[in-house]
Formats: sequence, structure tokens, C-alpha cells
Amino acid sequence: MKMLRCRICGETYLGDEAPSQCPFCGAHREFLVAPEGYPSDINEVAPTEIERQDLEAAIELERSNTRFYLGMAQRDDNDALRSAYKRLARIEAEHCSLFCKLAKNPKPADLLEPGATNDDWAADIAESLERERRASALYAEFTARATSVRLREVFGAVAAVERDHIDFDALARTYVRP
Ligand SMILES: [Fe+2]
Ligand SMILES: [Fe+2]
Repeated sequence: MKMLRCRICGETYLGDEAPSQCPFCGAHREFLVAPEGYPSDINEVAPTEIERQDLEAAIELERSNTRFYLGMAQRDDNDALRSAYKRLARIEAEHCSLFCKLAKNPKPADLLEPGATNDDWAADIAESLERERRASALYAEFTARATSVRLREVFGAVAAVERDHIDFDALARTYVRP
């Protein structure tokens, strides 16, 4: 068995082989490293004015998406989709916590309160697709303008996770019952 740590969220993974994505934040395999690759001061950054604004925007985006997915996960008429969007909510909540750490902000008090949805799987998945497209585009911008090496690493890794979520929404549509 190996012990790996995710350089993005800092969670520990125990297993024989690194999974293709971190089970906690969705970061791709390349970020799962030996524990020595995750120094204790990894999130000690001194954001510039623009980086601070980008972190604040990231916290709000992840808060909103977490709550939307928790709202989707409240419905009891499609267990596969309920479970999948609960999974996405956990990943977005992990992103929110990470950005709060980097900004040295407290976690939003309502982070884990289910938010309003459209009450229809097809409409919610369409909205999810819009949210994920917006997230991946924003994180690509934040990555391009970040000057801190750590912030560039985190924004870039999370942009890739949000692109995976776009792919997931396309798959989820096939699980909507007519
Ligand atoms: Fe992770
Ligand atoms: Fe996402």
C-alpha cells in the first residue's frame, strides 16, 4: 500500500495505485504525490490585489455551486443522479475550503445548506453545464494572470476539474428518465 497526498486539497489517499483523480477535490493524478511533496506551508501565499479578488470570486462561485448541487441531491426520484450530484457538491465544497485557506477567510456559514434548483433534472443539468462552463473559463483566466506559483498551480488544477464536470453533465443527461 502507498500513502499519497493531493498537492491541491492536501487530503491523504491510501491505496496500491494512484487513482485517475483525487477522490476529494478531483485533481488529476499528477497532483497525487509522496507526502514529502506537500510542505506544511504550501498554502502560505501573499496574494496581490488581483489575486485576492480572484480568490474571493472563486470562494463565491464554489459556494454557489456546492449549494446548487446539494439542492439537486435533495430529490428522491432518481437515485443515480442524486448520488452523483451529491458527489459533485462534495468536490465543490472542497474547492471552496481550499480557496478560503489560501485567502485566509473563514468558510461561508451556509456552505452546506442546499440551495434552490429548477426542480427538474434536465433543466438542472443544463444549468450545471452553464455553471461549469463559466467556472472553467474563469479559472483559466485566473490561472493566466496569477503571479504566485502556488495560485497558478491551484487555479490550473481546479480549471481541469471543472472541465471534467462539463463532461460529466453530458453523461448525466443520459440518466434522465423521459
Ligand atoms: Fe485533492
Ligand atoms: Fe465543478
